[in-house]
Amino acid sequence: MKYYIETFGCQMNVHDSEKISGIMKSGGHTSASAPAEADILIFNTCCIREKAEQKFFSRLGRLKSLKKRNPGLKIVVAGCIAQQEKGAVFQRAPYVDYVVGPQNIHVIKELDGIGPHYTACEDNPLIADTEYQTDRADSVKAWVTIMYGCDNYCSYCVVPYTRGREISRPAVKILEEVERLAQDGVKEITFLGQNVNSYMSDINFPALLKKANEIDGIRRIRFVTSHPKDLSNELIRAISNLDKVCEHIHLPLQSGSSRVLRLMNRKYTYDDYLKKIKLLRSALPDIAITTDIIAGFPGETGEDHAATLRAIEEIGFDGMFAFKYSPRPETAASRLEGHLDEEVQSERLYEIIDIQNLITDTKNRRLKGSSQEILVEAVIEGREGPILHGRTRTNKIVVCHQPADTDRLIPPGDIVDITVTKTARHSLAGIVRQ
Ligand code: 5AD
Ligand code: SF4
Repeated sequence: MKYYIETFGCQMNVHDSEKISGIMKSGGHTSASAPAEADILIFNTCCIREKAEQKFFSRLGRLKSLKKRNPGLKIVVAGCIAQQEKGAVFQRAPYVDYVVGPQNIHVIKELDGIGPHYTACEDNPLIADTEYQTDRADSVKAWVTIMYGCDNYCSYCVVPYTRGREISRPAVKILEEVERLAQDGVKEITFLGQNVNSYMSDINFPALLKKANEIDGIRRIRFVTSHPKDLSNELIRAISNLDKVCEHIHLPLQSGSSRVLRLMNRKYTYDDYLKKIKLLRSALPDIAITTDIIAGFPGETGEDHAATLRAIEEIGFDGMFAFKYSPRPETAASRLEGHLDEEVQSERLYEIIDIQNLITDTKNRRLKGSSQEILVEAVIEGREGPILHGRTRTNKIVVCHQPADTDRLIPPGDIVDITVTKTARHSLAGIVRQ
């Protein structure tokens, strides 16, 4: 049978879709190039904010007509909405056939003939020991899951309810996977987890980085997402001593007000966060630091918001994802007093984004004329020769040309040095150095 996967949400979901695709292929299914050609339509969903949920349900509503044309079509709702809503998905959309939570994707190849309205949302304590056949989309870069779930219970966040208890994969299994990827020609790996730096099996996260750093063929190592409370001195030393570990960390701050951070159950104050940033920068002066900020958390005062704006200026992030607070079912924050009007949230969000945009522009402008190491991810034929797309070690997107007088064709997967010739907010342009 032919399957088609549509993915919503974070990197975790993007990578889960690669696993789902691998599972389907191992079950003898083949991938369809469009939803209309599929016998099984799989939605891998996200519910981090209400908007993400609405986006999925409106897409589902639009694709429902495919079932009228092809009554044999099976619709699977997988991912975080599946886990959160479970059987309630069928009440809202009776034409859905199967609901499969993130811990149960292994069942997905065997669903045909079961049902109607089958739900697989049980806790799966074996997930960390499950080896998935992953159908990866990229041959230069690869995601590698090192831990599942999350135990932090940030008061706004739905993830502990959708992805279950935190559990780390055995280090040997992770390292075997990285070895296999290296043999397949992959150059960059990104260790994935909701809280990667709390990884703990027989070894801890810095030790895992050290072992991965020794694997021949891998040139770059990244990791997302880190929690500030678990950013240890040992990890800072690992980032600075291990040559393949890139100088970039995504370290969500969420708010610059320690009062709000307490309400968010983040387990650090703004001062704690700032101290860690200073330690990071003294060990790695050029490290890029990106973050997430939530605007308009319940009870956030004008003073709390002003503290966030000051924090953004004081730290000078390289990039940011900022969101309006969105109440989520079951979470502690949804029961707090003092929910703010959407207009206040929007106003605060735009102030946050405006300040960050100025900072991003200034930081990127300073890179003009600098030399950067790029991993080439794709080469696209342009009017004036090949255009190389890649990223710096600090995770900035770069588009660059080769000098006119070279005939050496640089393939994806190569690492080249470039000079930055132009900068914009979300990318740099450059030319390959001879
Ligand atoms: N409302 C708004 N933003 C949220 N995030 C997580 N939960 C919510 C919510 N309920 C943001 C956080 C997190 C990022 C992935 O999404 O900033 O770091
Ligand atoms: Fe990812 Fe969270 Fe969305 Fe689930 S709810 S897909 S873990 S962002």
